[in-house]
Amino acid sequence: MRFKGSHIISMTSFSRDMIDHILETAEKMEPIALGKQRSDLLSGKILAVLFFEPSTRTRMSFETAMYRLGGNVLSLGSVDASSIAKGETLADTIRVVDSYADAIVLRHPREGAAHLASEFSTIPILNAGDGAGHHPTQTLLDLYTIRRESHLEGLKIALAGDLKYGRTVHSLCYALSLYGAHITMISPKELRMPGEIINDLEKRGAKVTEADSIEEAINEVDVLYMTRIQKERFPDPAEYQKVANRLKITNDVLKNVRPELRIMHPLPRVNEIHPEVDETVHARYFKQAFYGVPVRMALMALVLGAME
Ligand code: CP
Repeated sequence: MRFKGSHIISMTSFSRDMIDHILETAEKMEPIALGKQRSDLLSGKILAVLFFEPSTRTRMSFETAMYRLGGNVLSLGSVDASSIAKGETLADTIRVVDSYADAIVLRHPREGAAHLASEFSTIPILNAGDGAGHHPTQTLLDLYTIRRESHLEGLKIALAGDLKYGRTVHSLCYALSLYGAHITMISPKELRMPGEIINDLEKRGAKVTEADSIEEAINEVDVLYMTRIQKERFPDPAEYQKVANRLKITNDVLKNVRPELRIMHPLPRVNEIHPEVDETVHARYFKQAFYGVPVRMALMALVLGAME
């Protein structure tokens, strides 16, 4: 299976075989990600990091992935300190960075930005989130977490929170449909999963249901995937206030659940998961953040042609 030179823009272009291959490669990377083994697999390779929106996990885990494999990172740094502040277009920025690096990881507030960038780039573009669109590398690490901490085959999962603007759940749903998952959607009515995505998921083989509350679904699922309400995507701040803090997990909510239940969250969290939950047997969100490193190591090794 050849990924060399590929752009990673959206999960819709991934087959199940492709995903399984990335997850298997990530598993081989784990000892290196943990610092237990050394590797020079990407020695001499440079990843350009262009983040037009804030990030902690995605940016730093891509950087860690490169350093752990002996590669280097070239950061645009703050957008205000770059020539974008003088009005340079994304297309021109990509054309220029294309000649400085071997791959580009891009986060941008505009939906479709990564696809646009791929049209001006001769090197792989990795979409690190484009507005409310897609976040495919997050999905791959989510799938990896589910595979390592629960099971992908026959999975029952509830997605709770902002299903309208949350790009991580959009990408994740598409991928889970390849595994025939049963997906329960839980959100305030203003933030429901877009109808066209639900239609697509059903066509692709997923079973989709809706629940009114976390309590209604929590005993029926293997994984509860919480998300943050995406305040920055609301056109009207008053609309955000109406839905903020509606869905929350506390130890009280978890009182009678099965020990096998896994709770995930792409992070950052705001108030959706009380810190007391961190100490329970259910919490997997910090481990999930770590799994971003082996998964992004696998992706970089594959798209740069260091592995097949
Ligand atoms: N999960 C995620 O994308 O986190 P960051 O915004 O910190 O990168």
